[in-house]
Amino acid sequence: MSYPYQITSQEQYEKAYKKSVEHPEDFWAEVAENFVWRKKWDKVLEWNFIEPNVKWFIGGKLNITESCLDQWAEKTPDVPAIIWEPNDPNEKSITLTYKELLHKVIEFAVVLKNNGVKKGDRVCIYMPMVPELAIAMLACARIGAIHSIVFGGFSAKSIRDRILDSQCSLAITSDGAYRGGKTILLKPAVDEALEGDSPVKKVIVLQRTHSDVTMKEGRDIWWHDEIAKLKGQELKDPLEIMDAEDMLYILYTSGSTGKPKGVVHTIGGYMVYITYTFVNAFQYQQGDIYFCTADIGWVTGHSYVVYGPLAAGATSLMFEGIPTYPDAGRFWDIVDKYKVAVIYTAPTAIRSLMAYGLEPLKGKDLSSLKVLGSVGEPINYEAWQWYYENVGKKRCSIADTWWQTETGGIMITTLPGVTPAIPTFATLPMPGVQPVLMNEHGHQITESNVTGKLCMKFPWPGMIRTTYGDHERCRLNYFNTYPGYYVSGDGALRDDKGNYRIIGRVDDVLNVSGHRIGTAEVENIINVQDCVVESAVVGYPHEIKGQALYAYVILVGEVTQEEALKKINDAVNKEIGHFARPDKIQFVKGLPKTRSGKIMRRILRKIAEGEIDNLGDTTTLLDPGVVEEIKNHRV
Ligand code: PRX
Repeated sequence: MSYPYQITSQEQYEKAYKKSVEHPEDFWAEVAENFVWRKKWDKVLEWNFIEPNVKWFIGGKLNITESCLDQWAEKTPDVPAIIWEPNDPNEKSITLTYKELLHKVIEFAVVLKNNGVKKGDRVCIYMPMVPELAIAMLACARIGAIHSIVFGGFSAKSIRDRILDSQCSLAITSDGAYRGGKTILLKPAVDEALEGDSPVKKVIVLQRTHSDVTMKEGRDIWWHDEIAKLKGQELKDPLEIMDAEDMLYILYTSGSTGKPKGVVHTIGGYMVYITYTFVNAFQYQQGDIYFCTADIGWVTGHSYVVYGPLAAGATSLMFEGIPTYPDAGRFWDIVDKYKVAVIYTAPTAIRSLMAYGLEPLKGKDLSSLKVLGSVGEPINYEAWQWYYENVGKKRCSIADTWWQTETGGIMITTLPGVTPAIPTFATLPMPGVQPVLMNEHGHQITESNVTGKLCMKFPWPGMIRTTYGDHERCRLNYFNTYPGYYVSGDGALRDDKGNYRIIGRVDDVLNVSGHRIGTAEVENIINVQDCVVESAVVGYPHEIKGQALYAYVILVGEVTQEEALKKINDAVNKEIGHFARPDKIQFVKGLPKTRSGKIMRRILRKIAEGEIDNLGDTTTLLDPGVVEEIKNHRV
């Protein structure tokens, strides 16, 4: 079966794009017809980008899991919905057909109900990449609870902040996680996050690593015990019928201000958008094995491991491990073993595998591959070529997909085999996506080959609706700079054929190995250390990670540099997670500031990049002498 909304020629793309701009409501209504609704919408769209207020499929009633599970459990019950490949290749893999997955989701939905979770409640999920993670999120969606997944690399403090911000009443975790050769404990981090007053009343714990964990009486319960209680009982499906604009989930992400914000996605528009983009960006054909290597803890996993593929009736391969375990051939072993047709990964992963040369690819049959996807950061020319030549054997088209947590789904990409791919360009907007480039005066750039700030002038169904508990923050972050536009925070260039090339962030957000980190978040942690007066964190290019963090720190008191380094690193580990630790820390006597006291980050960035002879104008600095000192002691 192919999909009625699948674009298979350049001409169709142009036609679809034109229609999506001229008649957006008709365009999206037609796509939305392909999903399971309990009641059709009364009105397709209502919007303004000033408040902002965006609503799609108004009055529509549905439960997203009926599109993701029930329809396929009926039409294609024995097709694998999820294939799970464990961290250890010697452990048995798991296949869950649509029929089996539906059953497991209903079972766990009953468990959630039995533990007091009601429609609208928030549930925090902190789990490894195991099928139960997908089951937990779908079970939340089944009963109308809002999930807030926290990536397993985050610290206890980060879990705590997120739980408090959205007032979660229940948490789901596991004893531990396997990642490469390591066993990482997860439950103790949740225990620490819940110390003192907490809105979380129950914790459901999955047994994964059989690590020793403490179970708090009255609060903590085992996943398997709860499921065992249901045996022999007739299951009453606790499905809730939801409004199209009810919240589906909250996902915290970093911005240019200190505190991560809870991006809110709602049900109807998100479902339609991510499924449409899944089918088109990967040119998915039913029966294809689709392998997205992202962790479900990030938006890529939400949209393109779970919801998008399942709503399309696809087979989604979920991988627990890392690309280099037990060796750097693991991705290719998986492609070979399952005859993967589509692989969707990050430039960071490609670059780290490039470093191992071609040996790990030898003897691996990659002939099943049709499409190679890339996401999360700009893919540099060398990585693009390596992927194209050595993985795709010059037969597969690359989809360099640009999007964000806030956009919900893919916005700009080549449609593989349909529209032309150009290395280092994300290329063309998806139908329904209306990008513009703005200059520094807030005017739209009409010329070609000029860089500007990438904004959107029209809503798309998968977009952010609010930031949880603070709508004003959403307005200020995304809709305030250029009134009437959604501001992405990325810079881009558009060529004379309308292809977009993403340059990277133009705000104080960094992208380290595809993980979004706000420089202010890290500075806040460094600045509260007793031994620190002030700090400034900037990014610099890193061969594998794309970007890495460079911190300039002014110390005070009797502390040695070694002690200060340890304190700072420990604090970042504890407050965010080890992935946010600066790669380089330079202790300085002063920071370059303007006379009004603003740190000149441009200069610090240049020094971090090693461009010390080309610092531009430093005459406006309060004390140009500090620049010399910083330059001379670069680390
Ligand atoms: O800077 C862009 C970069 O990742 C940011 C979004 O990060 P996050 O919300 O964590 O979502 C990542 C997965 C969608 C963007 O603002 N980015 C993402 N994809 C690309 C990209 N930069 C260049 N090219 C891409 N294909």
